Amino acid sequence: MTDKLKLLTPATLILDDKSYSLPTYMGVEGEKAIDITKLRSQTGYVTLDDGYGNTGACESAITYIDGEKGILRYRGYPIEELAAHSRFVEVSYLLLYGELPNSEQLLKFSTRLNESSIIHEDVHHFFNGFPRGSHPMGILATMVASLSTFYPLPDRLDAETEVQIVANLVSQVRTIAAFSYKKSIGEPLVYPSIKYKYTGNFLNMMFSSPVRDYQLDPDIVRAIDMLLILHADHEQNCSTSSVRTAGSSMANVYAVITAGIAALWGPRHGGANQEVIKMLEQIHAEGGDGTEFINQAKDKNSGRRLMGFGHRVYKNFDPRAQVLKEHCDKLLNKPGINDPLLDIARRLEEIALKDDYFISRKLYPNVDFYSGLILRAAGIPTNMFTVLFAIGRMPGWLAHWREMIHGEQVTIYRPRQIYVGETLRHYQDIKERV
Ligand code: ACO
Repeated sequence: MTDKLKLLTPATLILDDKSYSLPTYMGVEGEKAIDITKLRSQTGYVTLDDGYGNTGACESAITYIDGEKGILRYRGYPIEELAAHSRFVEVSYLLLYGELPNSEQLLKFSTRLNESSIIHEDVHHFFNGFPRGSHPMGILATMVASLSTFYPLPDRLDAETEVQIVANLVSQVRTIAAFSYKKSIGEPLVYPSIKYKYTGNFLNMMFSSPVRDYQLDPDIVRAIDMLLILHADHEQNCSTSSVRTAGSSMANVYAVITAGIAALWGPRHGGANQEVIKMLEQIHAEGGDGTEFINQAKDKNSGRRLMGFGHRVYKNFDPRAQVLKEHCDKLLNKPGINDPLLDIARRLEEIALKDDYFISRKLYPNVDFYSGLILRAAGIPTNMFTVLFAIGRMPGWLAHWREMIHGEQVTIYRPRQIYVGETLRHYQDIKERV
């Protein structure tokens, strides 16, 4: 335990007629925890917490969330302030190194990102091996893992190598993302350019071609940059926990980040923004107003959920969804962007927010309900949505990895289980089996 935790009065646990004293602690925002690290050795019991919904697996100083109050802060700064005033590169520095950079630090960091954006030429051959139509998340996971072979790590990471690897990953993830898109549409790869800043560079690599200049639209650049900020960290979510789990084995950082990318891919996590659009397209194609889909989402037997609704932690509203809705109306109402899916989304939200099923379960729109619409308006194809999420989440994953490896001690993640399979039985010869 660090000295940031305040020791409280111990809790008393009565179990099998015996009394045990368990230390309790309070974090800097008043969150309280019972320390059960010695529970099994003292009592023979483990805790049962399906999906870890009630388990604090680490101490962390990166992101603070209060799901009941709809609070999200990176290193103490409210997400609303960062979204309004900051840019993704500055937020990345904040998450990674704990403080907002001064002008000199920001310039140095941005320059390093720019200089690190080109990937080893030989990596390009890999892109030729993927079949047409490969999901870009599959390509991204493979390519990030393969970087470990092009940029091998020393056994002991010195400070400069670590800073460089972090910059490589934050920068190169967008190069790989754009290359995989270009490959999927059969166009030549567009290299990163010193002319552009982080987000503009990515959009240029995605959309320009030798025969087509791409004019950066400042509203689109701003909206995508804001999306990246809103996705940059979210404390111990599924992909970040995967990063910490893989990192706790002291695997190399490329493998560790690949674990995060794999976890992010699922439709209940980062894949949800793609699923939201599929759902809206389906409703649009069927011509209904969404009532029928909502009825199906309420029916457990249908296997459907209202995608973009609900959150493990936010039980009143998702502050990221509010920021996005507020700041991005400008983009969605721009002349020329007339997306029929936007009206369907607004109608679905209106119906669901008045429906007792969603109200009683505290299900509200999450960030992904709106993010897909913004990405569509920016011309990003649906199968790239989760990749954009991964670009945004990269500094968060790396901040958690750094926090873990620089912590007092790295304990390998190894939960227990309650075994419910067959009890002891003995091997039978195949002739005796029924
Ligand atoms: N549509 C319909 N019903 C839902 C939904 C939904 N989107 N979400 C939860 N419920 C219902 C569940 O069926 C359950 O009902 P019950 O109590 O009658 O059994 C109840 O609400 C609680 O659901 P859980 O799955 O226990 O909630 P949990 O906190 O574990 O799950 C999750 C959160 C996975 C995000 C869930 O709400 C969901 O699947 N939402 C849709 C997918 C989505 O939008 N994911 C993006 C998350 S945000 C992000 O990753 C950035």
